[in-house]
Amino acid sequence: MTDSLTVRDNRTGQEYDVPIADGAIKAADLGKIKADEDSPGLAIYDPGFVNTASCRSSVTYIDGEKGILEYRGYPIEQLAEKSSFLEVAYLLVHGELPSQTQHEQWVHDITFHTFVHENVKTFMQGFRYDAHPMGMLMAGTGALSTFYPDARNINDHDVRYLQIIRMIAKMPTLGAWAFRHAQGKPYVYPDNELSYTENFLAMLFKMSEQKYNADERLVKALDVLFILHADHEQNCSANAVRSSQVDPYSAVAAGIGALYGPLHGGANESVLRMLRRIGTKDNIPDFINGVKNGDERLMGFGHRVYKNYDPRARIIKKAAEDVFEVTGTNPLLDIALELEKIALEDEYFVSRKLYPNVDFYSGLIYEAFQFPPEMFTVLFAIGRTPGWLAQWLELVQDKEQKIARPKQIYTGDRELTFTPASERWA
Ligand code: ACO
Repeated sequence: MTDSLTVRDNRTGQEYDVPIADGAIKAADLGKIKADEDSPGLAIYDPGFVNTASCRSSVTYIDGEKGILEYRGYPIEQLAEKSSFLEVAYLLVHGELPSQTQHEQWVHDITFHTFVHENVKTFMQGFRYDAHPMGMLMAGTGALSTFYPDARNINDHDVRYLQIIRMIAKMPTLGAWAFRHAQGKPYVYPDNELSYTENFLAMLFKMSEQKYNADERLVKALDVLFILHADHEQNCSANAVRSSQVDPYSAVAAGIGALYGPLHGGANESVLRMLRRIGTKDNIPDFINGVKNGDERLMGFGHRVYKNYDPRARIIKKAAEDVFEVTGTNPLLDIALELEKIALEDEYFVSRKLYPNVDFYSGLIYEAFQFPPEMFTVLFAIGRTPGWLAQWLELVQDKEQKIARPKQIYTGDRELTFTPASERWA
């Protein structure tokens, strides 16, 4: 067996041998296939990169058919149950689990970089009263690059490490302040005696009390949600982060911009809207019939990659139960559970391999925390930050990488003759 592909170009009758490595061919090899000397080489048209590998990566492994998700080789189920968000962040960024000393240093460093320059607070206060928190987070993250101009020195290992610490540390501060801003409440400074997730909850919800004490079960559930969102290999926002060798603040700001879009981070909000619209369990059969007739989609179901089940959905369902034990049940949960039960038995969904995805339950949990829907993607972004940084680190150290610059198939006019406005409008 030879690891190559033989391609016959029927335009010219010529045959080409294209080497196969790691189950892929190099798109550049196809560029050698030409209809004639002057024509451009063969290109691949792949909107949405559905079958194009853009890099080699050792951060996250997904097998969508089998419902497997692993960070650096560790199954997501084990990490969610037995690890913490900061340990997972270390794993993603460094590629291996920390020793006790490394872990202590990592947690210490992140804890003591949670404060931001006072000017950051001033400009965040300058946003309109109704500014979307994702817009504020994106702007705040991008602005950090101007506070740390040394971050541009991406080839220096120590500089890179410092920015990664700063970024993971400051995201909850920016996210919490964006939330407080919309509510007209004073911004709360970080409390470095608290854990990462406790401190985030304190900056979100603390009022006049001396010390904010979050319920341990809520802290654990939010920590698990951060772990579940920490990376998802070459998804839309990771791609935005990886597109050029810019400093990590600007790169992550690009990732936040991509995540902001409704096709990426916004589905859990749509799930809530859908459940509210259904209203009662009695309305579910009509709703399901509408979905099957193609009138609408069952939001929170289906995934581009997972065709068996989304392993994060199972973990999130359990986290939802833990949260509701503290906050009381969300009446929409009953509708969600019934909807899931019916859909999982229905031929339409079974034959199309449509299962609940991570967003089916996450919105319900966030609502139980009393987050408004605009905050859902902010929470996603905080969890995703270590993954974006791990992807960025890989990019800047990968000798094979080039600036992201896809080809296009040009469909516009050519070689027109320009007539000045004075003549066109005469
Ligand atoms: N409800 C009803 N039917 C669906 C759904 C759904 N949620 N998802 C897919 N289908 C159907 C399609 O109509 C299509 O049926 P057909 O073959 O009869 O035409 C078939 O299943 C395949 O669907 P595609 O759209 O081709 O699948 P794709 O992989 O492109 O889409 C996606 C994946 C976008 C996630 C889709 O399942 C969807 O829209 N789901 C609802 C939105 C959602 O929950 N998004 C969150 C994803 S997770 C995340 O981003 C963090």
